[in-house]
Amino acid sequence: MKNRIKLLVVGAGPHGSGFHMPALAHYRSRNPDRVGSVLVCDLDRDRAASAARKYGFEESASDVEEVIGDWRPDAAMVLTSVQATVEVGRRIIGAGIPVLLEKPPGETVGEAEELVVLSAQAAAPVMVSMNRRFDPVLRAAMARVNGRRCRYVRVTFARERRNEDRFLTETALHAVDAMRMLGGDIVPSSLRWLGHGGTSWRVATFKFAAGAMGCFEILPAAGARAERYEITGEGFRGIAKTCFYDDGELCWKELDSEPELQTYRASRPVWELDGTLGETCEFLDSCIAGRAPRPAPADVLDSVRIAHRLDATPECLG
Ligand SMILES: NC(=O)c1ccc[n+]([C@@H]2O[C@H](COP(=O)([O-])OP(=O)(O)OC[C@H]3O[C@@H](n4cnc5c(N)ncnc54)[C@H](O)[C@@H]3O)[C@@H](O)[C@H]2O)c1
Repeated sequence: MKNRIKLLVVGAGPHGSGFHMPALAHYRSRNPDRVGSVLVCDLDRDRAASAARKYGFEESASDVEEVIGDWRPDAAMVLTSVQATVEVGRRIIGAGIPVLLEKPPGETVGEAEELVVLSAQAAAPVMVSMNRRFDPVLRAAMARVNGRRCRYVRVTFARERRNEDRFLTETALHAVDAMRMLGGDIVPSSLRWLGHGGTSWRVATFKFAAGAMGCFEILPAAGARAERYEITGEGFRGIAKTCFYDDGELCWKELDSEPELQTYRASRPVWELDGTLGETCEFLDSCIAGRAPRPAPADVLDSVRIAHRLDATPECLG
């Protein structure tokens, strides 16, 4: 790909304009030789124009189809409402343009599977925005594990007032996907769970294909926001509290050593703390270097399947 790319951003809602756009503006200010003009497209034209103005992006529009044909972007980010992600994604993938698609990759498992097929046939790479994979604390925890075998990985995923129907498949999907990043693939037949007190409360146990035990605690209306990943192996244990929804700390203890505490939160912007900047770098750096950015739809598909299984029934004990 040529060096200064023209980038299309579709969707200027709260997540697009509050997280991806400032991260993109930051990336462009640091890499003026890589990103040229940026066009923001939203069905709501005023919203697109005001977001473009706010971040110094050159153009705005309201019709993706027209932009693809007339403006001819070199890469695109799709940050639309969930219902529109696959429809807009199909058009961009069909035009052979590298694309970053916000999670979830489709409303249903069928749509996520369709994206896997489309991306395998596509002329350009497709990446799914799963920002926990770029969370600075989880990244640091992975570096501490450093390829050693884990025995037990547990996530506590607590939120406030999140009793909406699609909490498991759209939001708790992050916990499932981050656990797969930390521990590898999950054995689907090992999954057992309890549900209680509302549609999305779940405590699930399972086995990773690599042998470790795992546990999801999904607590959507806990009255507290916490997102903690505990990683335990032979002679080591760490507690990672993610930056955006928790304290932004990694507490690490190795056998016969003092515990070490690293803090990440102070003085960093939210779009860096939640991993959006990291994934922006992965997407744009890979596109420019001609590499396929990760995670691809195929990397995330099993996370989507597990989140939908947990959603399908409140309890599964065997
Ligand atoms: N990773 C995270 O932590 C995280 C957090 C929040 C939201 N999200 C995801 O980000 C996405 C956006 O979230 P949001 O809260 O901003 O959503 P939103 O529904 O509030 O805003 C989406 C915007 O997309 C626009 N849009 C919809 N269809 C379009 C189309 N065909 N063409 C152009 N514009 C279109 C809408 O007009 C709206 O302005 C969702 O997919 C959501 O799941 C991710």
